[in-house]
Amino acid sequence: MEHFNYLDGKLQVEGLPADTIVDRFGSPVYVYSAQALRDHVAVLQHAFAPLAPLICYSVKSCSNLSVLQLLVRQGCGMDVVSGGELQRALAAGAPAASIVFAGVGKSADDIRLALECGIFMFNAESEAELERIEAIAGELKQRARVALRINPDVADPATPDKTATGGRHTKFGIPLTRALPLYRPGRYRHVDVRGVHIHLGSPIPDAATYVAGIERVERLIGQVEALGGRIDSVNIGGGFPVSYDAKPGAAEDVTGHGSALGVVDSAQPLDGMGRLICAQLARLHAQGKRIIIEPGRAISANAGVLLATVEYKKQGWDRDIAILDAGMNTLLRPAMYGARHVIWPMADGGAHGPWRTVAERGGVAVVAVDVAGPICETGDVFAQARPLPPLAAGQRLAVFSCGAYGMSMASQYNSRPRPAEVMVDGERMWEIRARESVADLLTPELAGLQGR
Ligand SMILES: Cc1ncc(COP(=O)(O)O)c(C=O)c1O
Repeated sequence: MEHFNYLDGKLQVEGLPADTIVDRFGSPVYVYSAQALRDHVAVLQHAFAPLAPLICYSVKSCSNLSVLQLLVRQGCGMDVVSGGELQRALAAGAPAASIVFAGVGKSADDIRLALECGIFMFNAESEAELERIEAIAGELKQRARVALRINPDVADPATPDKTATGGRHTKFGIPLTRALPLYRPGRYRHVDVRGVHIHLGSPIPDAATYVAGIERVERLIGQVEALGGRIDSVNIGGGFPVSYDAKPGAAEDVTGHGSALGVVDSAQPLDGMGRLICAQLARLHAQGKRIIIEPGRAISANAGVLLATVEYKKQGWDRDIAILDAGMNTLLRPAMYGARHVIWPMADGGAHGPWRTVAERGGVAVVAVDVAGPICETGDVFAQARPLPPLAAGQRLAVFSCGAYGMSMASQYNSRPRPAEVMVDGERMWEIRARESVADLLTPELAGLQGR
């Protein structure tokens, strides 16, 4: 979180006090650092430089048009999983020829749109989908470029079950053992099956998992080519890990959860992972195959924060509870995956916010508190018994590392409008998504009311 710093005890986003953002755009609000987005693309370009891959940003992680536009300007292609995401990518200025299209449930309309606008390729997830692409491409008198998403039965033990996608008991991809016949030259009249795609999970902390997946599909590629088929591209998906915990260089985290160095916060660990993956892909790259990666969180997670406000402070049986104006409707990850985010007051009077060492913490006491949202669900809790400076109603908090799977998973549950999104670039800030209103929620339903 290089661009989210505490200066004189107050949170800054790049060159702006976070307070000014909430004063102007209200609370809760998602805030992104443009420089962090640019830096994270540069970290990936550096880590995978020997392969010069096409970096297709995973739109689902943070799909705001202005975020996409910025990344297109940094040279990113786009990884989309629906017609809606495809239209977002195009609206943000992504060249169609830089877009790859994955997803287990592509509709006929999605496929038609993708063919009409000339996307780079589909990552097909089943034989039935291939038949559908074949039929629609035939109708349109086109040839479709397709990679097969292979399920190699490889999973990283540290990837949460809910986001592990490379194991045999998930719905994703085509089982490795069923793939070879689908590459047979001449099998399809309107589809060129010339790519291999894997996406093993999100996140994948260990490079060995990528290496194992690549080894398996490398054998498949050998078999395809021995039968006269051709493979032009190898896409290893996303899942590159980030730190949700600490700031680089911090000796200790006052929240007591350690201070592992950030992965994207500091280029080193991703460089190490990149080296191992590059080594495994070197032979395929040397054969002229295009290498594609699909990072989402590695670009967006640590480029965004959620700023929220304490509505109430109440006493529970055992400890205090802070009820925020943001909850699982705003940020679903804690409720859905048990995800842990650093949370800290925007103004705590200290020098380095949550990342202070014990020595630097000085006199600021911490007390265990539950940080919860306003939604009528027991699971609507961001943190339990979290050591934080004493909180009071009206106090503003930052929830860190929220750029990925934050706003893109937000809902209107309990009829609460979704928050605004703001971009900061240096000392400039601008709204990139207006806060929803209750009217936005009600309008699509008004025509259905009887007897008005
Ligand atoms: C096909 C595909 N590619 C890439 C990603 C991005 O994953 P991450 O944000 O962990 O990089 C996902 C995430 O679910 C995915 O499903």
